[in-house]
Amino acid sequence: MLGEAGSDNIQGEAQKKLDVIANEILIQANEWGGHLAGMASEEVDTVQAIPREFPKGGYLLLFDPLDGSSNIDVNVSVGTIFSVLRCPDGCAEPTEADFLQPGSAQVAAGYAVYGPSTQLILTVGEGVHGFTLDREMGSFVYTHPFMTVPADTQEYAINSSNARFWEAPIKRYVGEMQEGKHGPRGKDFNMRWVASMVADVHRILTRGGVFMYPIDEKCRDRGGKLRLMYEANPMALLIEQAGGAASTGRERILDVVPTKLHQRVPVILGSRNEVERAAAYHRE
Ligand code: AHG
Ligand code: MN
Ligand code: MN
Repeated sequence: MLGEAGSDNIQGEAQKKLDVIANEILIQANEWGGHLAGMASEEVDTVQAIPREFPKGGYLLLFDPLDGSSNIDVNVSVGTIFSVLRCPDGCAEPTEADFLQPGSAQVAAGYAVYGPSTQLILTVGEGVHGFTLDREMGSFVYTHPFMTVPADTQEYAINSSNARFWEAPIKRYVGEMQEGKHGPRGKDFNMRWVASMVADVHRILTRGGVFMYPIDEKCRDRGGKLRLMYEANPMALLIEQAGGAASTGRERILDVVPTKLHQRVPVILGSRNEVERAAAYHRE
């Protein structure tokens, strides 16, 4: 299961074998249940229809089947991210247009993180709830009711190898944190970057922090690095439901009206006061 699949996805990224397998597992597990009108995956070019032989329902499921692909071969935590939308009225054969709803319209969102334990983190719009897989029972146990993100933090996450490509507000925001106790923030910060968004967001839901994948000169043409529908929206709903904030730097992520399925956006999310500070620097 390790290694390259030898193919590229719609976004021009090399697919790992596990990306392809995870995508097939998710489609097969969800196509027959009768709840869905259609699906969309980071790994599939167009809308994934429900086969004719199965009953259909009123919901649309969107997913990043395997988040953190670069961590597979090195045995670091990866995950699965998902988002659920209502299919607009009369949506028998959903088209791409039916999926293009802002993140604020999500009825549920969550992720599974495959780390030292497997956890499923879920919101249906009434807080964030965590479940841990008990392998012997073969089921998830409700271990983390009402997960919250503290408003303040001393920990941030960003791929700083991109620093020279960042815009001025992010250079200033990260620079001030790096100046520590003797800089304008008057305190020292710690840094973590797993390179699996699921694992970085899970840490923030566990102990706070701010996660950033801002727009930079390298990804400007694509609109950002992370995908709005499969990554940014579900994580933004979870973080807001836990009391945090999620912004592109210029607007609330959940307010972004998508124009295409595989759209990308800049992402700044986590502890509310830090996200607000980064957004304020963008306005100045
Ligand atoms: P994916 O594996 O689904 O393509 O997503 C990877 C994403 C995200 O999980 C992570 O935060 C980021 O890309 C890592 O980017 P760098 O390789 O630039 O660190
Ligand atoms: Mn991903
Ligand atoms: Mn992926």
